[in-house]
Amino acid sequence: MRKIIVIAGATGNLGGKIVQALLAKEAEVRAIVRYSTDIKKIKNLEEKGVKVFPLDTNNKLEIAKHCIGAHCFISALAGLRETIVDSQKIFLDAAIEANVPRFIPSDYSIDFTNLREGQNRNLDWRREFHTYLQNMPIKVTTIFNGPFMDLLVTDMPLVLFKQERILCWGNPNQRIEFTSTFNIAEFTAEAALEDNTPRYLRIAGDTLTCNDFVKLLTEITSNSYKLFRPGGIGLLNFLIQVTRILSPAKDELYPAWQGMQYMRDMMEGRIIFQKYDNDRYSNIQWTSVKDFLIHEQVDQK
Ligand SMILES: NC(=O)c1ccc[n+]([C@@H]2O[C@H](COP(=O)([O-])OP(=O)(O)OC[C@H]3O[C@@H](n4cnc5c(N)ncnc54)[C@H](OP(=O)(O)O)[C@@H]3O)[C@@H](O)[C@H]2O)c1
Repeated sequence: MRKIIVIAGATGNLGGKIVQALLAKEAEVRAIVRYSTDIKKIKNLEEKGVKVFPLDTNNKLEIAKHCIGAHCFISALAGLRETIVDSQKIFLDAAIEANVPRFIPSDYSIDFTNLREGQNRNLDWRREFHTYLQNMPIKVTTIFNGPFMDLLVTDMPLVLFKQERILCWGNPNQRIEFTSTFNIAEFTAEAALEDNTPRYLRIAGDTLTCNDFVKLLTEITSNSYKLFRPGGIGLLNFLIQVTRILSPAKDELYPAWQGMQYMRDMMEGRIIFQKYDNDRYSNIQWTSVKDFLIHEQVDQK
């Protein structure tokens, strides 16, 4: 029998890829969306064979009705505290109400179990949600995947393509883990469909230091990349504080200082995984940073 997986956040970037991966594994996919969700995005999901349920996402019993018989509830929501804490609580409570055996929260991040409270705002909300779900009568699986590899060519100021520099704070030999969203989606689909998934799963498509990036970018672009190291972690911490005071932008999901908090956490080394679960599902081909950057044609940037 096809396993039923319910997902919230199916219209998003990662959520959409998780849906694709679930359909490829022949799961029955049900998406819970808001009344305000873009109709084009709903149609797009329906054309793929997803059963979409627009509803009042504050109504636990409404959500629960569509979760009956499901094997797992996946959250791929993105948002501020009211989404990550308040909305996810309602989705979790609905999954419990419908006797869904497992919930995957919208973590998909660096491993925040080692971070201190106050160190990273967006991850503090996830830690707060974890406190809530701790003693709930449902199994939970968190997937830690490090930074999205995809961000290397979009929002993450690590490879400075125009300047041919690698921006590094602190130790240029600090390892950083990256995973492509495609691989995260495949892995999440597998974890959702499995029966005995553990509480935490940690994956990394590739691991590189800033010095490795200098060599790699020099190799694939034939330009002479160099390290740009404005200072250590202490200076970055100071800059985060100053930026937060001057430009708080509290209502933005990724204000500049929040991006800097992610960067600091990546480069500080506190989040590095001790053990990887990459081999748990043998069919996943992990994308390396090199293959990803070549695919993105960074030699032409
Ligand atoms: N590790 C990393 O480097 C990294 C990078 C980026 C993201 N992430 C994480 O990956 C996860 C997914 O992020 P994403 O970038 O794929 O998200 P996204 O593209 O912004 O999509 C967000 C999804 O959440 C839905 N949503 C937001 N608030 C909601 C609410 N209150 N109730 C119901 N649905 C709601 C949206 O639905 P509508 O269509 O209705 O708006 C949309 O489907 C998040 O946990 C995010 O923090 C990690």
